[in-house]
Amino acid sequence: MEPLNEELVEQIDRYIEDLFTPTDASLAENLKDANAARLPAINVSPNQGKFLYLLVKIAGAKRILEIGTLGGYSTTWLARALPPDGVLITLELEAKHAQVARRNLDRAGLGSKVEIHVGPATDSLRSLIRLEVQPFDCIFIDADKVGYVEYLDLSLQLSRRGTMILADNVIRHGLVLAENPTDSADRGARAYNDAIAHDPRLESLILPIVRRRVDGLAISIVR
Ligand code: SAH
Ligand code: DHB
Ligand code: MG
Repeated sequence: MEPLNEELVEQIDRYIEDLFTPTDASLAENLKDANAARLPAINVSPNQGKFLYLLVKIAGAKRILEIGTLGGYSTTWLARALPPDGVLITLELEAKHAQVARRNLDRAGLGSKVEIHVGPATDSLRSLIRLEVQPFDCIFIDADKVGYVEYLDLSLQLSRRGTMILADNVIRHGLVLAENPTDSADRGARAYNDAIAHDPRLESLILPIVRRRVDGLAISIVR
């Protein structure tokens, strides 16, 4: 057997992708446009997108909240898993990212299901709480890592028993293993992991996600 190395891990990810996550025109155009608009290429991987899609379907989610839209790549996967009457609200700081995402989602035929709220996520979350919107069935946290713990706290106020709360990039190539990571994003991710591990309102686990680097997706369910 081959020893575990980065190349083998990437080959395995590709093998799974070829089997279960064939690229389609919408997703390919999404990434092409995001790249042309010079958005950073920090979207979830195709396999992770497919995983998010499956989780939404397994949960039977009808209302999804996403924090961190970028060009709408993960948004596309999540929204595709919604039933016809499903809705997704996605929060994005950068107007330019939101603009690229809006065009991508419209072109993918998902425009009518997705609302993009532009501004700092904390502000958008607080207005949703103030408006007393219906609780979300699934919340995907994927914006600035420094804000993760606050996003969790606000997300819990938009949840019900059984809401699934997901968070991307919580392992960061193992940099979260340090007790006091020097980088603020690593510190934010580690603080998030500690928060979900100890919050009595949640049952949680982190699933390692391996592509070019080892990262992780946190999965929590509200008791
Ligand atoms: N979920 C996307 C990737 C999101 S990248 C995907 O997988 O396709 C993180 C996004 O969060 C970026 O677009 C960034 O502009 C946004 N962001 C950063 N800080 C934010 C904040 N304070 N409020 C809302 N969005 C923020
Ligand atoms: C990075 C990756 C992400 O998925 C993200 O949300 C933010 C940053 C990165 O690789 O730097
Ligand atoms: Mg991410």
